[in-house]
Amino acid sequence: MRLNLGCGFDKKAGWVNVDKMPQSAPDQVVDLEATPWPWADNSVREVEMRHVLEHLGASTDTYLAIIKELWRVCEPGAQVRIVVPHPRHDHYLNDPTHVRPITVQGLEMFSQKRNHEWQKSGKPNTPLGLYLDVDFEIVSFDVLPDEPWRGRLQRGEMQGSELQEAMRMYANVIMETTIVMRAVKADT
Ligand SMILES: C[S@@+](CC[C@H](N)C(=O)[O-])C[C@H]1O[C@@H](n2cnc3c(N)ncnc32)[C@H](O)[C@@H]1O
Repeated sequence: MRLNLGCGFDKKAGWVNVDKMPQSAPDQVVDLEATPWPWADNSVREVEMRHVLEHLGASTDTYLAIIKELWRVCEPGAQVRIVVPHPRHDHYLNDPTHVRPITVQGLEMFSQKRNHEWQKSGKPNTPLGLYLDVDFEIVSFDVLPDEPWRGRLQRGEMQGSELQEAMRMYANVIMETTIVMRAVKADT
């Protein structure tokens, strides 16, 4: 099974399109903040969450319960593709239903490999993968710069390292981040 969670009107053929709003006529009406989710353990090979995760889990407990459910329904090696607005972009701030800033580093906290590395090197990051018994490895991530940064990069007027610096210093540099994760679990 492939799940398009929080599909809205962006339906994908061959996928189970899921949303809490019946107005968008999803295949399944499900409130993703209500756990447990209605899918079996290890039943999903691919998950798409495009502009959805930032809408879920204003309460930390709810957010962590969602991550646990995501991991539970994933089959070993399942791919999860998450697209989110950058939390320091006005697009994130403007929408009153955006309740949870999502970053690559925040999702990396659910990687047990990274948790072990932090333990060894004495980093104080909370080892959420180990605490929640979930394990997601970040496979890749990509950022979509806003203007004028995108044009400057395309014209070769600035380097990637300068974009990195701008991302740390300024708002409205990155519009959107796409993160691909893999569910790390033993075959059942
Ligand atoms: C910004 S829209 C994105 C829709 C679609 N993924 C797209 O890219 O066009 C966010 C969607 O998430 C859905 N959503 C928000 N909270 C939800 C929840 N608790 N359970 C299920 N869907 C939810 C909304 O109903 C909405 O359709």
